[in-house]
Amino acid sequence: MKSLQISSFKEYKEKYAQSVENPEEFWSEIASQFRWHKKWDKVLDWDFSKPEIKWFEGAKLNITENCLDRHLEKLANKTAIIWEPNDPDEESRHITYRQLFVKVSHFANVLKNNGIKKGDKVCLYMPMIPELAIAMLACARIGAVHSIVFAGFSSKALASRINDSECKLLITANEVYRGKKPINLKAVCDEALKHAPSIKNVIVYRRTVEPTSMVEGRDTFWFDELQKVDKHCDAEIMDAEDLLFILYTSGSTGKPKGMVHTIGGYMVGSTYTFSNVFQYDKNDIYWCTADIGWITGHSYIIYGPLCAGATTVMFEGVPSYPDYGRFWEIVDKLKVTHFYTAPTAIRALARHPLSLVEKHDLSSLKVLGSVGEPINEEAWHWYNDNIGKTKCPIVDTWWQTETGAMMISPIAGITPTRPTFATLPLPGVQPVLIDEKGNEIPFENAPSEGRLAIKAPWPSIARTIYGNHQRYKDTYFSAFPNMYFTGDGAYRDATGNFRITGRVDDVVIVSGHNLGTAPIENAIDEHEAIVECAVVGFPHDIKGNALYAFVTTYDNIEQPEDELRQEINDLITKTVGAIAKLDKIQFVSGLPKTRSGKIMRRILRKIASNDTSNLGDISTLLNPDIVENIKKSAL
Ligand code: PRX
Repeated sequence: MKSLQISSFKEYKEKYAQSVENPEEFWSEIASQFRWHKKWDKVLDWDFSKPEIKWFEGAKLNITENCLDRHLEKLANKTAIIWEPNDPDEESRHITYRQLFVKVSHFANVLKNNGIKKGDKVCLYMPMIPELAIAMLACARIGAVHSIVFAGFSSKALASRINDSECKLLITANEVYRGKKPINLKAVCDEALKHAPSIKNVIVYRRTVEPTSMVEGRDTFWFDELQKVDKHCDAEIMDAEDLLFILYTSGSTGKPKGMVHTIGGYMVGSTYTFSNVFQYDKNDIYWCTADIGWITGHSYIIYGPLCAGATTVMFEGVPSYPDYGRFWEIVDKLKVTHFYTAPTAIRALARHPLSLVEKHDLSSLKVLGSVGEPINEEAWHWYNDNIGKTKCPIVDTWWQTETGAMMISPIAGITPTRPTFATLPLPGVQPVLIDEKGNEIPFENAPSEGRLAIKAPWPSIARTIYGNHQRYKDTYFSAFPNMYFTGDGAYRDATGNFRITGRVDDVVIVSGHNLGTAPIENAIDEHEAIVECAVVGFPHDIKGNALYAFVTTYDNIEQPEDELRQEINDLITKTVGAIAKLDKIQFVSGLPKTRSGKIMRRILRKIASNDTSNLGDISTLLNPDIVENIKKSAL
């Protein structure tokens, strides 16, 4: 939306100042440019001590009218989604705004016909195909709440997410090809459903011609369902603070957290940041390579771009198939102008011959983006030199599942960039650095480093953790009074630019995926030979971080270590999913512990990173001798 866009650095500074001094005025001006059935009574109501955050209270809307209906007047024949299949020989699909509007309305009636009503939870476990976008928007159209589970998660992980939010309906596909390998999604669902009794029906999209096992009375095919209903579906009128979706993210302890996002604020936040950060122009072709199963896909493949009337690319495959030039081939073929990916992908691609880049014409590119983890200097330069040919600004966008939208990021072509820096906060975002004692570090002390917190709410902040408001409060609002704590550390230079240094809790970002170590440890502990274990991250050239497990076994175990390692990783694949596989597993005779019995991960993190020169004071440990033993046999 051009009307939302900042067009100079001077304007950015003015808007930023306005957003801090008068957030209600600032956000109501922006929100006024969306379609509402009724405007809000109050822009913002908040109390971080509860915590309670409400944006646009009293307003009525449907987000799909903003993504679809609103565009029918001027953009009906514009391509909304370009779908690029895994196999380059299969045809792409181009879906216009009008076609998408019809498909969403049609499938919304399928949901209704399956008994789904406003407020019901629907689980989507799907590959990257347009039907995933259609299903999520169809939920939003009738006021149902979608919970999308990344289709690489195991059946156990799927079942626990279904159970946590008591989803009634599951939508999936029979099979999908990613790279050379077929993945049987329906089989994963069948296994999950043995332990997820809330699901009454399963709708299966037939992505391949392979035979699919169907359970009579429970499972039906997508196309058969469409035949039963008509294509017109009025949008359900929703409150701004009604739920739009639940999306699970890893926590440092316990089960994944179902982050709850509500309609009005999320719509305004995701669209405003999309339009500004990328400076999207009406004929641009925008491609975010993330999977819709993550927040990046929710906000920046679907909701932000579609609300802004953009053309958004959805890619089913992987960067390495049929070869490591696939991304660049697609950029060339579709004349992509905006390319948004993760540092882990950049590092992986940078290892392959430049000829794979050079044989494609990348001159359509205008803006490059990065998200998911800190981008290291080398990757930044490779991206800038070889992909952007030094003429495309790189927007290094820092944000989280919890924040719903970008928080700290350059505005393309407007904010001066600095390699490895996410640079400046976007309007409406008030980041602060907190020192060891819990005090705010004044800007005058720059350069400085500390824990990153945010002072006031922004529209797309998650409102709670589904079913566990106390955990929401404890995790984000208890570390520092009256602030949202991000869990990240950051460095700030003298001009106010932020560089995110990484997590300060027990979450490890592996290949851009946010993995809590606790569920992985739980999986390892299930092995009958294992007494206990600790999992930490260590730096890895491609993945950013990889996982290292320190494991103790029972005395009488005679199984060879390599066999045990294999079994442990198999267990993790089964319980958490293949994305959580361990790179290193070290068998140790004990773990370093405090006197209260807490495992000292700080020490293990240093050993795993091969940085043992300064382990700090270990004399207070219950078992200081163990540290030397672990160091000696480190992998
Ligand atoms: O540690 C930060 C890292 O990813 C975390 C959020 O992960 P998730 O909720 O899965 O969302 C990822 C996509 C938004 C953050 O707490 N992170 C994300 N973007 C960046 C980043 N670290 C450094 N630079 C970034 N641009």
